[in-house]
Amino acid sequence: MNKYILFITVFLVVELCSSQPVTLYINSSVTDYVLPCGATLENACPDIVNALASTQSSDVLLSLGNTTLTGQNNTNIQLVNRTVTIQGNKDSYATINLAGQGAFFIIQDSEQLYGNTSLTLQYLNIANGTGYVLPQLNGTFGGVVFLNTSYYYAFNTILLDSVVGFNNQATTGGILYIQSNGSPTNVTVTNSDFNNNNATNASIIFGQYILMTVSNTKITRNNAFDGLMNFVAAYVQLDRVLIDSNNASVSLLNFNSTRYVGIQALTLTNNLLDFVNKTIQSGFVKCFQSDLSFGGSSNLTDNFGASVIYYRSIGKTLTINNSVIESNSGSLLGGAISQRYGSLVVNNSSISRNTAGQAGGAIYLISATSATITNSTMDENALGVVINGTSRVAGFGSALYLSDTTNVIINGVVFDKNTDNAYGGPIFCSGSNVTMNDIKTSSDELVYCNQSVLDTKCTYHGNFGEEICPEKKSKLKPGVIAGIVIGSIIGLLIIVLFIYILKKRHHNRSKYLRYN
Ligand SMILES: *[C@@H]1O[C@H](CO)[C@@H](O)[C@H](O)[C@H]1NC(C)=O
Ligand SMILES: *[C@@H]1O[C@H](CO)[C@@H](O)[C@H](O)[C@H]1NC(C)=O
Ligand SMILES: *[C@@H]1O[C@H](CO)[C@@H](O)[C@H](O)[C@H]1NC(C)=O
Ligand SMILES: *[C@@H]1O[C@H](CO)[C@@H](O)[C@H](O)[C@H]1NC(C)=O
Ligand SMILES: *[C@@H]1O[C@H](CO)[C@@H](O)[C@H](O)[C@H]1NC(C)=O
Ligand SMILES: *[C@@H]1O[C@H](CO)[C@@H](O)[C@H](O)[C@H]1NC(C)=O
Ligand SMILES: *[C@@H]1O[C@H](CO)[C@@H](O)[C@H](O)[C@H]1NC(C)=O
Ligand SMILES: *[C@@H]1O[C@H](CO)[C@@H](O)[C@H](O)[C@H]1NC(C)=O
Ligand SMILES: *[C@@H]1O[C@H](CO)[C@@H](O)[C@H](O)[C@H]1NC(C)=O
Ligand SMILES: *[C@@H]1O[C@H](CO)[C@@H](O)[C@H](O)[C@H]1NC(C)=O
Ligand SMILES: *[C@@H]1O[C@H](CO)[C@@H](O)[C@H](O)[C@H]1NC(C)=O
Ligand SMILES: *[C@@H]1O[C@H](CO)[C@@H](O)[C@H](O)[C@H]1NC(C)=O
Repeated sequence: MNKYILFITVFLVVELCSSQPVTLYINSSVTDYVLPCGATLENACPDIVNALASTQSSDVLLSLGNTTLTGQNNTNIQLVNRTVTIQGNKDSYATINLAGQGAFFIIQDSEQLYGNTSLTLQYLNIANGTGYVLPQLNGTFGGVVFLNTSYYYAFNTILLDSVVGFNNQATTGGILYIQSNGSPTNVTVTNSDFNNNNATNASIIFGQYILMTVSNTKITRNNAFDGLMNFVAAYVQLDRVLIDSNNASVSLLNFNSTRYVGIQALTLTNNLLDFVNKTIQSGFVKCFQSDLSFGGSSNLTDNFGASVIYYRSIGKTLTINNSVIESNSGSLLGGAISQRYGSLVVNNSSISRNTAGQAGGAIYLISATSATITNSTMDENALGVVINGTSRVAGFGSALYLSDTTNVIINGVVFDKNTDNAYGGPIFCSGSNVTMNDIKTSSDELVYCNQSVLDTKCTYHGNFGEEICPEKKSKLKPGVIAGIVIGSIIGLLIIVLFIYILKKRHHNRSKYLRYN
């Protein structure tokens, strides 16, 4: 009987051990440790390499308390086929100082050497990472974690919970560089704070073919050429992410052929794109060939330098629900949204007080399949430079520029106090079919009706005035318009702009008035 109970007990203990991680302690100030180390606080391991060597277990929890780790045994740690948790003290995080010597973890497999790797980083400050060097690509990748997997039956997981990452840098992926070539890697970032990280591309996260969730996380004061978070062929969910006071040139969020992007309660405020190269398509959120949706009271406000959303995707949809995109400026086309191809859905949102330089103060839309704007507000948008509180420079569509969009439905939308300008009202339309119902506006002429400049007319339906664009308006040639404009009281600024437009036209005739 006793033997039987002993057997069960041993069996249970073995069972328990195989499902529970082995916990080892690490304390960099312990000097008189003996190997294997870590089983007790008194014999704590001095560093991560010695701790990982002190157990054969494939599931290890390293408890760091509030110690600070640095140097070669805490940097560029290779991991394969193991579940490792690096955990600081919840109330007083441990610190990892990578001291400019590389990345924290490097995870790579190959067809010959594979296995599931799972890395959790929790309650840690991580600083001064410089990534994994790939000489063949002439760069550094993943300031803190580099993962590149190729095996199809390996399932890797990365979890960052309550991590403060700062002063990390890389060519690509200032914090994380995750590239899955086999099965997608499951990457979760939550309750974290990333500030003052730099990269050429993706100063926080680069992810290719990954399942990405970022929640309840702050991303502030980081620098990049293109992107804080860049995703290729990924499934991405952002929930309660704050992106504030970052600087970049081309984009902050960059989605390329992404399988799914769902954004909830995003706050994207006070960021700057320096727009050095106007030939590069730029936007705070740049999206190619992906569906993209914003909801849950997202707030994209007070950004300067480019359209907030630059969207270019054939057969996909950009959806803005229950959100505000306000007081953004510094783009040429589309202060809030610049879209080519695909569909646009805006519902229950405010797209107000935005400014663009040339066309579409709020929204610039060209060659889209459809646009549906419902129950929303588009107030006080403008074109051109604001001088002493007044927008002066001419252009097309201070609120909405529509060109060659098959099907436009605007229902229950308020257009108040959008600026008028030399080329007419808040909505400019060419080559589109527009249905407008239940519109409120303070503009005498909401829709720019002179169809002479562009040959393709718009058609209008709905209860917003049968008279939107009466046929009787005469056809004017661009030269005649020039006369009218120069003669107008708006003055010097217009002339300057016109010279600019003429110059552009000289360079490329087809660009004139089309802003292609
Ligand atoms: C770090 O932890 C030790 C022991 O757990 C504690 O005595 C010490 O006050 C802590 N230091 C800080 C800065 O919290
Ligand atoms: C790293 O660990 C090895 C033993 O694994 C040890 O010999 C070496 O001195 C350690 N390096 C540092 C910088 O502590
Ligand atoms: C990062 O490196 C700088 C320069 O060596 C150093 O002053 C700073 O303390 C490091 N950060 C951390 C968190 O150790
Ligand atoms: C990974 O672990 C599995 C199961 O424990 C084992 O079958 C496989 O050989 C390991 N792979 C490597 C590279 O160690
Ligand atoms: C590698 O990058 C450095 C710094 O950006 C640059 O000067 C060098 O020309 C590059 N080399 C190659 C082979 O691209
Ligand atoms: C990041 O870039 C900023 C601005 O260029 C610079 O001041 C800062 O030192 C850089 N930080 C790192 C970690 O490279
Ligand atoms: C991904 O990882 C997170 C946390 O590590 C977990 O909650 C989630 O279930 C995982 N998702 C999948 C699809 O495995
Ligand atoms: C999208 O990613 C693919 C594959 O990496 C790349 O070839 C392509 O240039 C990217 N497209 C854009 C617009 O960035
Ligand atoms: C800016 O665009 C031009 C024309 O496409 C290109 O030649 C140049 O390399 C770009 N500059 C940068 C910094 O990418
Ligand atoms: C959006 O953010 C701006 C800037 O932080 C703030 O002033 C504004 O009140 C916010 N709007 C909403 C609707 O939350
Ligand atoms: C817009 O509001 C009206 C009236 O409140 C409602 O009937 C309609 O369903 C709403 N449309 C959408 C797309 O939510
Ligand atoms: C802006 O207003 C100030 C004060 O009224 C005036 O001195 C200045 O000339 C104005 N600037 C322009 C460009 O109109």
